[in-house]
Amino acid sequence: MALIPFEHRDHLDGDRARPEYVRAHRRIHAAFYLDPGTPETIDWHARADQENGLVLRGFAEASALPHAAGEELPVATIGCYPSTLQVGTRPVPTWMVTAVGVAPTHRRRGLLRAMMGPELAEAQERGHALAALTASEATIYGRFGFGVSSRVATHRLDLTRRPRILPAVSAAARCPEASVHELPAADLMPYAAELAEALARGRAGQPLRTRSVSEGRLGAVDPEGNSLDPVRTRLGYLYLGPEGPEGYAAIQRRPGGEEGPSVMEVKDFQAGTDRARIGLWEHLLSLDLVDRIEFEDAPGRELADLLTDPRAVTLLRDEDRLWTRILDVPRVLESREYPADGRLALLVDDPAGLITGAYELEVSGGRAAVRPAPSNPGPGEGAVEAQDDAAWAPGVPRARLSADLLATAVFRGCATQARFGAVGGRGAGLAARLFAVGREPYCDFMF
Ligand SMILES: CC(C)(COP(=O)(O)OP(=O)(O)OC[C@H]1O[C@@H](n2cnc3c(N)ncnc32)[C@H](O)[C@@H]1OP(=O)(O)O)[C@@H](O)C(=O)NCCC(=O)NCCS
Repeated sequence: MALIPFEHRDHLDGDRARPEYVRAHRRIHAAFYLDPGTPETIDWHARADQENGLVLRGFAEASALPHAAGEELPVATIGCYPSTLQVGTRPVPTWMVTAVGVAPTHRRRGLLRAMMGPELAEAQERGHALAALTASEATIYGRFGFGVSSRVATHRLDLTRRPRILPAVSAAARCPEASVHELPAADLMPYAAELAEALARGRAGQPLRTRSVSEGRLGAVDPEGNSLDPVRTRLGYLYLGPEGPEGYAAIQRRPGGEEGPSVMEVKDFQAGTDRARIGLWEHLLSLDLVDRIEFEDAPGRELADLLTDPRAVTLLRDEDRLWTRILDVPRVLESREYPADGRLALLVDDPAGLITGAYELEVSGGRAAVRPAPSNPGPGEGAVEAQDDAAWAPGVPRARLSADLLATAVFRGCATQARFGAVGGRGAGLAARLFAVGREPYCDFMF
């Protein structure tokens, strides 16, 4: 059957989802074996995607069924929207990739590859320095040049052990003019956008949350529960500093019978300042009638290090979260800080040929100037392996690495990869030192 490509940018008819949006939405949900939701919740998704500027692309197929099936779904989709991502010192324009789904009947025939290639090439042409996604499986996207750029943890915190924040940390965070206020979590929405912007500006690896993400996390709507009503059992705590809101936490008790431990789930946690982070945790640690707190999108082991009883925290899961794909090497490398100075020539091998080439990195005062070699191939030339010309940047140590590892190095460093040879060449050790990061980036949501 012939595949018919499609592209949709206009998802609404009034405030209702257009039929072609509904079909693509159903495809994506069927790819994950999920309930697509009610017409009302699909309309909500369409409004959110329209607001975000989502471009939906993919392939459909003319029907081969003997009886008209009414609503045949496209066989493959990819959805992308423009945003920015803080690399370290500067945010860069980023093409956010989401809604990737191929029908189980059409998998492993190259449809993802047929969608991803042009998507990345176009994003590069339009001046995006990065593409970013969150992955359902960790083995899919490395081949397209995406590298793991942040990790998240799932914590279980045992309150029966009565853990407390370390006294010195608590004292450092104390702010007599600050206060914590309880309100329905949905009522935190007016504060969500401002905090999301501050966090996306201030934290490497945190993309700007769209409104729909906050609505879902705060339970202002409940699309998974097929309802657009607020979740009444979700509670919010707002940390109000001397100059205004600095953070909030939203929690919900896990439904269960009378027996067994009482578990509180952290549904959202946004802290724009360290004192708000500590103040909110102190509040959560003091909750009565709670045996455990579970937090799905936590930043690494930070909390355990701040407690009087670090064993009160059990790490239930630790996995990759944000994956990025570099589309503009100089712009990305010049948008972070470096803990050491030095000169290094990077030889970047890119399976998609978009950034293949040699780049000289000159770091001074913690900031880099990056010069691509004049003989680098153009993105359309399909060169995979970077050529090293000894006459270019003579005497500068070389480090060879793949495009996905460069993305990882930018956000999380490359010490392990250099030690075990995934970053090669005489300059591998220097690459490990230059790209070392003091603080792991952190992205607190899936998209
Ligand atoms: C993941 C998915 C999109 C792949 O689509 P596809 O059209 O079958 O992929 P392709 O045939 O284009 O495969 C492209 C490459 O990825 C590899 N690949 C595809 N799916 C993979 C998977 N689940 N795990 C590991 N590798 C995978 C293929 O082997 C192929 O490798 P190669 O070209 O280097 O030999 C599809 O299986 C799917 O929809 N899965 C369920 C939903 C999902 O996980 N979506 C991703 C959301 S982040």
